Amino acid sequence: MTTVSRKASPTRRWPRAAAAGHAGGRTLGLLGASLVLIAAVGCGSGAPAPEDRVALTRPADVSPLFQPLPETAEHPPDNPGTPERIDLGHKLFFEPKLSRSGIISCNTCHVVGAAGVDARPVAIGEGAREGPRNSPTVYNAAFLAAQFWDGRAPTLEEQAKGPIQAHVEMDLTPEEAVERLREVGYEPLFRAAFPDEEDPLTFDNIAKAIAAFERTLITPGSAFDRYLGGDTAALTAQQKRGLQIFQEAGCIGCHNGVLLGGNGYAAFSHVAGSEDVGRAAVTGREEDRYVFRIAPLRNVALTAPYFHDGSAATLHDAVAIMGWVQLKRRFNDEEVDALVAFLESLTGEFPLIPHPQLPRAMPTRNNAASGE
Ligand code: HEC
Ligand code: HEC
Repeated sequence: MTTVSRKASPTRRWPRAAAAGHAGGRTLGLLGASLVLIAAVGCGSGAPAPEDRVALTRPADVSPLFQPLPETAEHPPDNPGTPERIDLGHKLFFEPKLSRSGIISCNTCHVVGAAGVDARPVAIGEGAREGPRNSPTVYNAAFLAAQFWDGRAPTLEEQAKGPIQAHVEMDLTPEEAVERLREVGYEPLFRAAFPDEEDPLTFDNIAKAIAAFERTLITPGSAFDRYLGGDTAALTAQQKRGLQIFQEAGCIGCHNGVLLGGNGYAAFSHVAGSEDVGRAAVTGREEDRYVFRIAPLRNVALTAPYFHDGSAATLHDAVAIMGWVQLKRRFNDEEVDALVAFLESLTGEFPLIPHPQLPRAMPTRNNAASGE
């Protein structure tokens, strides 16, 4: 276990579920016609055949404010994504020992096989306590400018320390988390993941390994990305109409960039009066009352319910509320349907993440006897 011969690659690529199959199975109201269109595009990777590549350019009707989702996320220099580190983070993400009861892992609320969410209005954690907010997806979180609905953690590394300690989530002290991992036999895995460190099993390194794993949770290849790449048949007529409304009505003023959000803040007056004041609690500034991070919209069709408080049950509701609250527009049903159809085109290809084998050193007879 001490010599690590595998060469460090910049990132890990998981096998992917086919986009069309996934979207067809999960999204609501996808028209038969659009399924045919997606199938006709073929191959699933979304890459145009080499001979077509020159001909394909970004369609004229799509704003330069949108960017395609990259296939991989960059790892920062101070936390390189070596295979050992990513594998350790993968285990830790599924590790229920990181919660007081021993039954809650990151994957309890961010189910990687279900778009990275728990599909509940607000999360339930330790002691069946309800948290104040909806669980956002961990997919593509690597591209967020700041983590959490209020942006209070700047990086994935910082973020990962939050839930382990939060009373309503996993409820451990950093010392307890480290001790529990030592007990079940994680030490050799930390040595392999942090080979230059004397005492690698630390709380900071738990967070680093988890963050390295999270940077592999990327969902490229959506119909919208194929469209951005110049495949004009990738969107249905209704989705193109939705894209047009999204741009002309002004959704794009907030929801833009790689994630169509996640890169700025805006007031959300819809929740005025509620206890959760959003960003004001982070900055202490009165003008940040009810300001929240502009939600990223990648895979949004699979992450109901919506908003930081889970108060919108469906994407139709969320879109209609956004139109009214942010743009003072009362969209009719046809417009809302088109916007929802466009948002469905943001569903990418999900990697197949196996449930890992977790270290489980059993206590010796003596330890067991003295521990009782
Ligand atoms: C009890 C449910 C629960 C558990 C367990 C949990 N989370 Fe979360 N997670 C949430 C909720 C709720 C939020 C949003 C909280 C907020 O914004 O204040 C969140 C936010 C996040 C975010 C930010 C995403 C974004 O869009 O801003 C990431 C990343 C994340 N969690 C990763 C993890 C990791 C890693 C673990 C395990 C160490 C974990 N979570 C454990 C419920 C949970
Ligand atoms: C002024 C900026 C702004 C504009 C314009 C705007 N949004 Fe939003 N949007 C936000 C913010 C902020 C949130 C997060 C709200 C919260 O905290 O719950 C959000 C959340 C959402 C959500 C919920 C995402 C989730 O995961 O819960 C959807 C869907 C959405 N917006 C779609 C739209 C659409 C469609 C339009 C145009 C009709 C639009 N938005 C216009 C700022 C904006």
